[in-house]
Amino acid sequence: MIDRPANSVTTVFLAQHPDFVSILGALTFMKFNDPQFQNQLLTQFHSALPPQIHQSVRKRQIEFLCGRWALHQSLQAMEINSSVPIGIRDSLPDLPPDVCGSISHSNHWAAAVVFQKKLINQIGIDLEEWFDEETCQQIGTSIATEEEVKSFATLSGDKSRILTLIFSAKEAFFKFYWPSNKTVLEFSDIKIQMKSDTELHVEGRTKDSEFFRTYSPSIRYWLFSEFVFTIAAPLNFFSNLPAHLLDPKI
Ligand SMILES: CC(C)(COP(=O)(O)OP(=O)(O)OC[C@H]1O[C@@H](n2cnc3c(N)ncnc32)[C@H](O)[C@@H]1OP(=O)(O)O)[C@@H](O)C(=O)NCCC(=O)NCCS
Repeated sequence: MIDRPANSVTTVFLAQHPDFVSILGALTFMKFNDPQFQNQLLTQFHSALPPQIHQSVRKRQIEFLCGRWALHQSLQAMEINSSVPIGIRDSLPDLPPDVCGSISHSNHWAAAVVFQKKLINQIGIDLEEWFDEETCQQIGTSIATEEEVKSFATLSGDKSRILTLIFSAKEAFFKFYWPSNKTVLEFSDIKIQMKSDTELHVEGRTKDSEFFRTYSPSIRYWLFSEFVFTIAAPLNFFSNLPAHLLDPKI
């Protein structure tokens, strides 16, 4: 296995808490902008890429491998054997049957989370580097309504940060929703609002009340200098996390 990239930050931060490793799982963040690391990944794993990734452009191959590499770190932290690159099943990483996981990558960062299924069946994560003004002007109105944005009035920062957070929350929710529903959602299908300093409220605008009754979804967020990170999971999942880990300001 190749080494961790020299100028990257890899944190299996949930694994630093002994209770987390045994009860829950692990989350890895990785900065992957080191060209040497990217080249090493491609050299070592190119021939093992799934066909649809094999045919794609280099950027996609790199992000795929970095997501898989982060996933591998999380699995290792839980002492679960795996090899890179873990394949694809139903759009999701093909994980061992007793764990569930989720991957996200942005331009320079990848994150991957793995949890034991005895605690949680499905989970969605999203990592989004902060949008700039131009991106917000281009896509802002398709992501969120003014009502959603207004609910974040107490969050410090400009509108582009609020829109990045709402975007990330909706993407994380979609990844959480997909495994049991296999239905694509539009941004306008769900409504995200600030519920408290640490929690976002999510509501379906469409008919899918069954999913909301079964899973009681909730979304938590963490604000980093370069990106926002969100997790969508059942409400009671978060009550198993130590309170200090739910502080959104890292
Ligand atoms: C799946 C999707 C959400 C990915 O979002 P993204 O911001 O482009 O990319 P991210 O890096 O955050 O996530 C990509 C990872 O999500 C995972 N993923 C892909 N499709 C998925 C799905 N249907 N359900 C859950 N996870 C999925 C994969 O692991 C993927 O990484 P990989 O292909 O390298 O393995 C997006 O491509 C998509 O299909 N969107 C349509 C639905 C949507 O976004 N609606 C608006 C919000 S409700």
